[in-house]
Amino acid sequence: MALQYKQAAKVIDNVLKKKASIKTSIYQNNEIKNKKIILAIVSKTLANMNTIEDLLRDIKDFRTIKQKTMLMVMLNDYITNGKISGGGAIKSVILKNKEKIPILEKKQKEEETFKYYRLNTLRTKVFPSISNKVEPDEFIPNLYKLTPPLSLPIDTLLSQDKPSCFPAFILKPPENSICIDACAAPGNKTTHLATIMNNTGIIYAFDKDSKRAELLRTTVKNYQATNIEVICGDFLQSDIEDIRFENVTHILCDPSCSGSGILERH
Ligand SMILES: C[S@@+](CC[C@H](N)C(=O)[O-])C[C@H]1O[C@@H](n2cnc3c(N)ncnc32)[C@H](O)[C@@H]1O
Repeated sequence: MALQYKQAAKVIDNVLKKKASIKTSIYQNNEIKNKKIILAIVSKTLANMNTIEDLLRDIKDFRTIKQKTMLMVMLNDYITNGKISGGGAIKSVILKNKEKIPILEKKQKEEETFKYYRLNTLRTKVFPSISNKVEPDEFIPNLYKLTPPLSLPIDTLLSQDKPSCFPAFILKPPENSICIDACAAPGNKTTHLATIMNNTGIIYAFDKDSKRAELLRTTVKNYQATNIEVICGDFLQSDIEDIRFENVTHILCDPSCSGSGILERH
């Protein structure tokens, strides 16, 4: 039985029993040498858990297997890649039942290779002509699903995950609003706010890290947004009496996080 399955199964056990997060289970275990591979296996297995649980329930032979988490990890490899590494009893049982196990649709695999790009409508209202397969998102205006690689570098298209587009979309400040982005660098959400406000009003964009604030300035300049004022400083130490903030109506706050909730961006 492949070592990577064993290590991934142990991590999943820890996570399901709420003993530790995915990252802690992987990064604090010195026995796991190839941490990125184990992280990918664990994330994919958890993402496919509904399909896997259906198989565990429906295929009788699986009920007799005691190492359930190991079975889940190996089943995940089979349904996503159509193969299983190593040997062993669990592999034999899976292969014995292979007619009953669907390999995930090719369409789903294509879906996973999509990337989201947001069109900078402050620079152009027209989607650039490219040869990639492009599909507009059903919720977020000006967000597109695109199959990479982009055929040419396009400065009007910004790579931005769909989940990270929701905060500005939901906050939706009207034109001419006075806003604060409390944790702004590198500026994906700040520039999204600027687009929603159609480059009107003002966004006070804070970042306490000087290097990241510089990166934010570059993003804002390239984006050609003129309604963003970058403030290099700690938002929590900002002066609430400052006259600039008197008429603020909207605040977006996206503080640093551990990233432990990100399962391959699902
Ligand atoms: C998750 S990132 C923000 C990503 C950004 N919203 C975007 O969409 O591109 C968090 C940022 O918040 C900054 N930050 C954390 N605490 C802060 C504070 N108290 N005041 C200002 N910036 C802060 C960090 O330096 C970091 O650049």
